[in-house]
Parts: sequence; structure tokens; C-alpha cells
Amino acid sequence: MLNTGELKMSWARQYMPVLGAIRKRFEAQKPLSGTRIGMALHVEAKTAVLVETLAAGGAEVYITGCNPLSTQDDVAEALNSVKNVHCYAKRACSVDEYYDAIDRVLDSNPTVTIDDGMDLIHRIHTKRRELLDNIVGGCEETTTGIHRLRSMAAEGKLEFPVIAVNDTPMKRHFDNVHGTGESALSAVMITTNTLIGGKWFVVAGYGFCGHGLAKMAHGLGAKVIVTEVDPRRALEAHMDGYYVMTMEEAAKIGDIFVTTTGNTSIITGDHFPLMKDGVILSNAGHFNVEIDIPWLEEHKEGMEKRDGIDTYIIKGKKISVLAEGRLVNLSVPKGMGHPVEVMDLSFALQALCSEYIKNEGPKLSGGVYEVPNDIDVSVAKLKLSSLGVEIDKLSEYQEKYMTSWDIGT
Ligand code: ADE
Repeated sequence: MLNTGELKMSWARQYMPVLGAIRKRFEAQKPLSGTRIGMALHVEAKTAVLVETLAAGGAEVYITGCNPLSTQDDVAEALNSVKNVHCYAKRACSVDEYYDAIDRVLDSNPTVTIDDGMDLIHRIHTKRRELLDNIVGGCEETTTGIHRLRSMAAEGKLEFPVIAVNDTPMKRHFDNVHGTGESALSAVMITTNTLIGGKWFVVAGYGFCGHGLAKMAHGLGAKVIVTEVDPRRALEAHMDGYYVMTMEEAAKIGDIFVTTTGNTSIITGDHFPLMKDGVILSNAGHFNVEIDIPWLEEHKEGMEKRDGIDTYIIKGKKISVLAEGRLVNLSVPKGMGHPVEVMDLSFALQALCSEYIKNEGPKLSGGVYEVPNDIDVSVAKLKLSSLGVEIDKLSEYQEKYMTSWDIGT
């Protein structure tokens, strides 16, 4: 009989046809044989399907979590019984345990890395530099990781090539928009059991994730407020039909807040005292730095703790924070992460980019690289074919028209 982790994996597998098609080819061709892949990702069922795909391709895979609260222990256990897979992740670990597990992954002397947030690459470049010689390259899953990598590269400190999986259209337009939109909202709803319709719903940041969240909340009848620092994005939010204002103004009005900026100090001691009694705060960015929890801890007069909800009592008002301000969609007790169909696309990209970096990495120098266009398009084609959707083709005449410059008025 399958245990709960294996049942979660087999559920995910049935809705991941793109990764399934890649797995079939990997099993036949073994393109990753001889590769040791070190990974720090959210250890849950969809990630496990990626891991078994990489192992099916001939890789030896070593994985831990990329967030102390996002691991599902039953999935971690199930992964450890997959051939050529070693999983060290544990839910609710301390920061020391988190880095111990990262070190155990790195003890495998990986040749390829896959990160979600860049903690693995940071550890390699700071504390485990002896590993650099054997690494041919890496892949990064998320916006925050890409920011960190680009900062490293700008200082000339990134010593191997890394593919910016996050930035490619087949990731951003689906995972960031639909994935974060649905999963963050459903995590708020399932944790609080409160209504979205009719509420003032504040989305901090109008990047790809903010777009998705605003759209979903609006779809459920919320009055959506967007806060931004970028004038073009702010204008876009305005023309998309949302209220745009500063966080100081939004703080006075909002019922539910979700931060999606990837930056620090978005909701702070400047804002908490302005808020209404009963507000709900959560974060959909990678790190727990967007909501100033230390300020709340310092100023609280009392506290109520529920599963996934910390309610701070300050000057008689209740301010509730979900999942300790960590990535809400994976860190609340019932958080499942993004819907399986979008992770199918993101992890198909990861599988193909791992193969690419294994082959091409040795020819590339340190830096951040785009996902090759043919890989991005191939994932779209595989998904369309799994849906049985056919699309038009350019005629020869159209191709010529699109590449010519002398056909005008
Ligand atoms: N499941 C696995 N990785 C995830 C991610 N980065 N975001 C949401 N859900 C996930």
C-alpha cells in the first residue's frame, strides 16, 4: 500500500503530463547520467515529481528544503525511498538545522545545482568554496533568487553559469501569475475561513505575482488596492481597475493584506498602528522580511496563537499574521503550494534546463543566463499537445512578410 507521501506524489503525477513526457525520454536516453544534482526547493509533492524525473534521467539527486516551514515530511520520507534520491528536508526546522541540511546536500559534491531562493549557491560561494571546481552550472526557480544572483553577478562574484528559470515566459506567465494568484489566495481562505467578497484586499507589489493575486481577489468580489513604488506598474494597476495608493493610506482601509514585492520592510511599525481591528496580514514573497514581525513582537500586549495564525494584540486591536510572515501558500498548515498544472510547466523547464546546463555549462562563464527559447517553446508545445489543442502555423508568405523590411504601404 502507498504511504501518504507516495499518495500525494501519485496524485500530482497524474496532473503533470509535461513532466511525464520528459520523464519518458529521460528514462530511455539517460541524459543526466553521471550528474550529481544538489537541490534546495520546497519539498512537497510536485517537487518530488521533478526529483524522480531527474533521477529517471540518470542523475543522483540530493535535496533539502528552501524554507523552514514549507517541507511536507511525508513527501520527504517518500522521496527517500526513490532510487538514487537522498532527501534531508524537515518541516519546522531551526535555522541551524536548515543550514545543516544544506551542507548535507553539498557534501555530495554536486555538479549541478537547483535553487529556489539562492541559499544553496550562497552557501557554496561563501562557506563551501572547495565545491566550485566541480560545478558546471545551476538553475534558479524564483524572482528573489534571480535578484540575488544578478547582484552577485554585477559584483563579479558569481563563479558558475546559472539559468534564470524564473524569468522565462513559460514560468512567469503561469507560475507567478496563476500559481501565486490562486495558491496565496486559497491559503488565506483555508487558514482564516473568512470571506474575500466585499473586503478591501491590499496587494503590495504589482509584478507578475501581484497581477495574479489582484485578479483572483477581484474575481471573488474584493475591492482591490495595489501599492507600488514603480510608476509604470502603478499606472498599469490603475488602468486595470484597481485602487492605487501608498501603504500608509492602504493601512487605514485594508481588511486583508498580501505582500508580493520580494523586498524588505513593506508593512512596518509606520503602518500597524493605523490598521483596523481584525486585519489579516500575509506574505507571498520568498523570504519573511516583508512584514516587520520583530516590531509586532516588541510592541505586543498580548497574543493568541492558532494553527498558522499569530494574532498580536496592540493597543486593544488585533492584528493577525499568517504563517509567521513566511511564504503563505506553502507555510500555513494546509498550504499546498501552487496548483499542480502550473508546477508541471515550471518543473518541466527545470528538468530541461538541468539537461542543458549539464551539457553546455562547461562552455559558459559565471553569470546569469536566460532559458534558451527553444526550451521555453518546447514546454508550451508539450502542454498544448497534452490538452489536445492545435494552433495555426505561419504560411511561407507570412514568414517572409514578418522577416522582410521592404513590404510597406
Ligand atoms: N511547490 C514547489 N515549489 C513551489 C514554489 N516555488 N511556489 C509554490 N509552490 C511550489
